[in-house]
Amino acid sequence: KTKLILDVDTGIDDAIGIILAVKSQQFDMLGITTVNGNVSLDSATQNTLKILELLDEKDISVIKGAAAPILRKRFFEHKIHGADGLGGALKDVKVTQQCDEGFAPDFIINSILSFPHEVTLVMTGPLTNLAMAVKKCPQITQYVKEVIFMGGVVQGYGNVTPTAEYNIYVDPEAAKIVLQAGFESITQVGLDVTRKALLTEEHIELIENKQLADYIRKSTLDYRQRYFERNGVWACAMHDPLAVGVALKSELVKREKFYVDVEARSELCDGQMVCDFQNRLMKPENVYVCLDVNVEAFFDLFIRIINS
Ligand code: BDR
Ligand code: CA
Repeated sequence: KTKLILDVDTGIDDAIGIILAVKSQQFDMLGITTVNGNVSLDSATQNTLKILELLDEKDISVIKGAAAPILRKRFFEHKIHGADGLGGALKDVKVTQQCDEGFAPDFIINSILSFPHEVTLVMTGPLTNLAMAVKKCPQITQYVKEVIFMGGVVQGYGNVTPTAEYNIYVDPEAAKIVLQAGFESITQVGLDVTRKALLTEEHIELIENKQLADYIRKSTLDYRQRYFERNGVWACAMHDPLAVGVALKSELVKREKFYVDVEARSELCDGQMVCDFQNRLMKPENVYVCLDVNVEAFFDLFIRIINS
C-alpha cells in the first residue's frame, strides 16, 4: 500500500477527497494534516474529524498545521463552502476523536524521513504546510515519493480572480516555495482538469450506501445550486477528489512536465500560475501539469470505491 499524507483545508470537496482516500483501502494513511484555507484551521480540523466520524474511522491521525498563510491575510470561502465549510451537512455530528499533538510541517518532515521514497503527499488546500516543511528541511524533496496538489490553472481562467485559482491565490508565496523546491515528482491537478470532473445527481444516485449518498447530496446542495446559477447545469466540480484520484490511478490524467511558477508581486495577477509551455524562459521543467482527464474513468472509480 502507498503511504499517504493528505493535507486538507476541509471544505466540501476536500471532505469527499478524504472519503475517497479512506474508502479506497489502497493507502496506508499516515495522517491527515490540516491547514488554513476555505475555513479556519480549527474548522478545517473539526470538519476532518467529523468526516472520519462519518466513516467510523478512528485510527487515522489528524495533525494541525498552519493557521495562516506565510505572509498574507487569511481569505475564507464561506460563500462557497457554507458557514461551517461542509454546507451544514454534519452540523449534528459529535466528534469523539481528538487531533494529535504536533505540527503538520514537522509531521510531514518526520514521515518522509522515516520512510524514504515511500510517502506520497496529496495536497488539497493552500500549500502553506509543505512550504514550511521544505523551508525547515530542504532534504525532504529528495526523499518523498511524489507530491500531487490541487491548485492553479494554466490554460483557463481563475476562480477567485480572473487569473488565479483559490489554493494558489491564498498563499502564493507558499506555492512558489513548493514549486521551486526541486521535487523530483510533483503533479499539478488544476482547474483545467478538475472543472471537467463534474458531479451530478445521476452520480449521486449510483451511490448505494444511503448515509454517504445523503451526506454527499446534502453537503453539495448549495454548491451545485451556485454552479447552476452560473452555468445552467446542476453539478459541482470534484477538484480535490480528482487529486486523490490521480494518486489512486495516474492514468486518469494526461500529464506533461513544464517549467511552472507563480506570480506573487502583481496587483492584478497575484496567485496566477504561469506554465512555460514553449520553454521561453529556458528553465528546467519542474512540474507535471495535468492537461486532460478521463472523466468517465474517474467517476467509475469514484462510484466503485464509494460503493465498496
Ligand atoms: C480549491 O479551492 C477550494 O475551494 C476547494 O476545496 C479546492 O481545493 C478549488 O479552487
Ligand atoms: Ca480544498
